[in-house]
Amino acid sequence: MNVLCVGDVVGLSGLDEVCSRLPALRREYKADVCIVNGENSDVCGRGITRSGAAALFDAGADVVTTGNHCFFRTRPDTFEETEMLLCPANFPYTSARMGSCVVDLGRARMQVINLSGVAFMEPLDNPFVRFDELYDSSCRFCVVDLHAESTAEKRAFACYVDGRASAVFGTHTHVPTADGQVLPGGTGYITDVGMCGPLQSVIGVVPAQAIEKQRCHTPVRFSVAEGACGLNAVLFTLNDADGRCTAVRQILLP
Ligand SMILES: [Fe+2]
Repeated sequence: MNVLCVGDVVGLSGLDEVCSRLPALRREYKADVCIVNGENSDVCGRGITRSGAAALFDAGADVVTTGNHCFFRTRPDTFEETEMLLCPANFPYTSARMGSCVVDLGRARMQVINLSGVAFMEPLDNPFVRFDELYDSSCRFCVVDLHAESTAEKRAFACYVDGRASAVFGTHTHVPTADGQVLPGGTGYITDVGMCGPLQSVIGVVPAQAIEKQRCHTPVRFSVAEGACGLNAVLFTLNDADGRCTAVRQILLP
């Protein structure tokens, strides 16, 4: 069982990049399931539209996850209505259906849970406790997208769910980390998958705008940088018999 997890899609150029490459990627890596974080795929790089999510599903995404920008361009009830489009399940008043789903693989089921970190982020509900509430041990596979700023929070979470989740992949920082591994209990883990967006940018944003904000601390309206995009993803190989991860492979495409 191969699960392809694609990092944060940034802007319309990132969306086009993922949609054009995903079918071939699925074939090349023999992906049985594909999860894409579409958190930044609208024209401004903040949020996801209905049409953006539809494009990702059409291109081959089984599940589309989001993060802190989930409600910027999409109403909460859209997540309630769209089974495989997820927002972080630890937003207050978020139902289990909005933040988790089950992929029916015929011979087995895979639960996918989307959570947000709380360190250096909005004070949402506790992601560790929310996982405990949502985790369905009757599903052979469980994959978590933890959309979080803090590397320590992501790592601690993965250790917490080691042996229950098949895989935990971090998103949000847009920078791929080089720490993919299988934890002792059989959970595949990477702190951050990275992004699918413009290469010559500051995590997707026009560099001059990011410099102005950082140097002068003045309010700046960010826009998505132009130019060629890269695609970052991770492939988790899971044991069909027990759901445990056997390999974590990073995919970094220019
Ligand atoms: Fe984010």
